[in-house]
Amino acid sequence: MNNRTLGIGLIGAGFMGKAHSAAYATMQMHVWPAPAQPKLTCLADENLEAARIGAERFGFASFTSDWRALIARPDVDIVDICTPPNSHLEIALEAIRAGKHVLVEKPLAMNSEEARRMWQAAERAGVKNLVGFSYRRTPAVLYARQLIDEGAIGRIYSFRGHYLQDWCVDPEAPRTWRHVARIAGSGTLGDIGSHIIDIARMMTGDIDSVVSLVRRWVDERPETSTPGANKVPVDVDDEAMFLLKFREGSIGRIEASRFSHGRNNYLGFEINGEKGSITFNYEDMTKLGVFLAEGPIERRGLRVISTGPAHPYGQHLWPIPGLGIGFTETKIIEVCDLFDAIISDRRVRPDFEDGYRVSQIVDAVESSGKLNNWVELDRD
Ligand SMILES: NC(=O)c1ccc[n+]([C@@H]2O[C@H](COP(=O)([O-])OP(=O)(O)OC[C@H]3O[C@@H](n4cnc5c(N)ncnc54)[C@H](O)[C@@H]3O)[C@@H](O)[C@H]2O)c1
Repeated sequence: MNNRTLGIGLIGAGFMGKAHSAAYATMQMHVWPAPAQPKLTCLADENLEAARIGAERFGFASFTSDWRALIARPDVDIVDICTPPNSHLEIALEAIRAGKHVLVEKPLAMNSEEARRMWQAAERAGVKNLVGFSYRRTPAVLYARQLIDEGAIGRIYSFRGHYLQDWCVDPEAPRTWRHVARIAGSGTLGDIGSHIIDIARMMTGDIDSVVSLVRRWVDERPETSTPGANKVPVDVDDEAMFLLKFREGSIGRIEASRFSHGRNNYLGFEINGEKGSITFNYEDMTKLGVFLAEGPIERRGLRVISTGPAHPYGQHLWPIPGLGIGFTETKIIEVCDLFDAIISDRRVRPDFEDGYRVSQIVDAVESSGKLNNWVELDRD
């Protein structure tokens, strides 16, 4: 039993509000003793009814439509921002000013300039800061990083990553905030491309330059799902493909699309090194493909490892590898790591600096698409 509690003030009662709330609510069922006990103190949403229903459903003690009031509460230790990107900067700066620890959903901000301000403010204030790139907390993905750290595949030659979905492929599907640049910042690139860029950096390190192809396939969509609804403009990218040069010398290729028929949440990667390869597909998220160039040549092959108690966080999750895990478990690991960082006063990754560096790459991919040329990243 841990007597220390951390009060959660969560802003945004939508998809991620539900995912983060489920993680706080079940963290102690998995991780015992947890670094501290979460206390679901207050839920804010600009839509008061969403905040009221969310508080009842997710287990928050109170609700409000005013996120400033939530931040001002002395019983809120962590401000958890689950709103669209256009509000991340303002809410995070206010929370940092109030001395709160901050968890912000990805992408960190609308662009790298905003992300930089958030990084610098959090660093100056000394508060813990984390970006919700939760796919990197899939145990199989953490195990891939562990294998690289152990030197299992040696020097890395190449990283190939993709994140493909198909929910936008129907041109009659209504416009959402994810199609509007002044709310989302960018389109497919910032929304899902940012996740696989984060994983590329986690595996292969900093990125020096990119060259890209960026396309929008549908310029306008119905405003609502009502038949005959007005068409309204879409002003973000739908698909991006880019090549990368990593600082350590390896090379990479990333593809992000919301226009890939038959792909629902197809995030994956292949890493090729001098002594082996690693492959991962989130749609089969408990498995990691590993090839090690060792032993008699006739016995070599790509083996499939089913992650379980022997793998990162496995002792906290389920006792049998084949039982499987899901998105909630990655969010449990995420909030648990944030709690641990607060209690033991250590850095937690990906922090706002990492979020800024991902935003820099998103900006560079957009610029390269316009310039038709390689774009170098600033080394600040
Ligand atoms: N880590 C992941 O895998 C993942 C998955 C989906 C979404 N996200 C990210 O999470 C964030 C939220 O996305 P979502 O899918 O939950 O969106 P959503 O539309 O489901 O929910 C957003 C909620 O925020 C509220 N809101 C909007 N602006 C607000 C403001 N200024 N103040 C208070 N409330 C406000 C809305 O009323 C809504 O209830 C985005 O940054 C998105 O990119 C991350």
